[in-house]
Amino acid sequence: MLSAKSLFQEILDDDESFRLFCSIAASGESQGGWENARIAALVPDGERELAPKITRHGADEDKHGRIFNALMKKRRLEPVPIPPETDYTMLLEQHGIGLAHDKLKSDEPLTVQDIVTYLAHSRVTEQRASEQMDLLRKHFADHPDIGRAVKMISGDEDNHLAYCHEELLRFAYAGHGRAIQETLRECALAEIRIYRDVSLAVMAHMGRILGWPRAKSAVLTAGIHAVYAYERAVGWRRMVSLRMPERRDALGGPTTSAPEFA
Ligand SMILES: [Fe+2]
Ligand SMILES: [Fe+2]
Repeated sequence: MLSAKSLFQEILDDDESFRLFCSIAASGESQGGWENARIAALVPDGERELAPKITRHGADEDKHGRIFNALMKKRRLEPVPIPPETDYTMLLEQHGIGLAHDKLKSDEPLTVQDIVTYLAHSRVTEQRASEQMDLLRKHFADHPDIGRAVKMISGDEDNHLAYCHEELLRFAYAGHGRAIQETLRECALAEIRIYRDVSLAVMAHMGRILGWPRAKSAVLTAGIHAVYAYERAVGWRRMVSLRMPERRDALGGPTTSAPEFA
């Protein structure tokens, strides 16, 4: 039967598909790490107290990148260059979601509006990350090779999402509510499209590597389009709501290390 678990199990069991999966994941994580480190360095004067949390956010993403690389190393696999159409983070940036890399490469301090944009972008993408890792945690928490990594990354992504909710609510109370809602909406609608396109691209590559029959690919393609239709109709709303998280100050304190991985 075709299920998320059986699909991922298949990808996990084959060296070539596992290596592509880990390479794609590692690339997105380290790109997120770089972006956050640059944002932390460019935080405007009035918002300096946010800088350590942004640094921590970036350090977590870097750690995730190292974990995915370590998972490959453990199986004696080298990372592969990732096909551009599977590069979720790069595609988001190209579509103007979040802060432009040109801006992050400069030495000009960001504005408060930029910080709000960064948080709104993160609120949407961390929701995706948190849901995806949650799915992996549900099925593979006890897996001998990837269980610990999945649990650690999943916990971190939940923290990132909680932090985004809390900080965005603070900015909303400070009068940025309208800008936040507009940015969230725009970002969510773009993200669900890019997520669909990246899913189709990843699936096509996996299908080729694993020699999936045409019928199986057709079912998966239909599934990805169905998810998009649902997200376009109602699902996107879950990505734009703001709720005070149970866990406050989730990114206060230093990042947890992962010496067993990297
Ligand atoms: Fe991450
Ligand atoms: Fe994250």
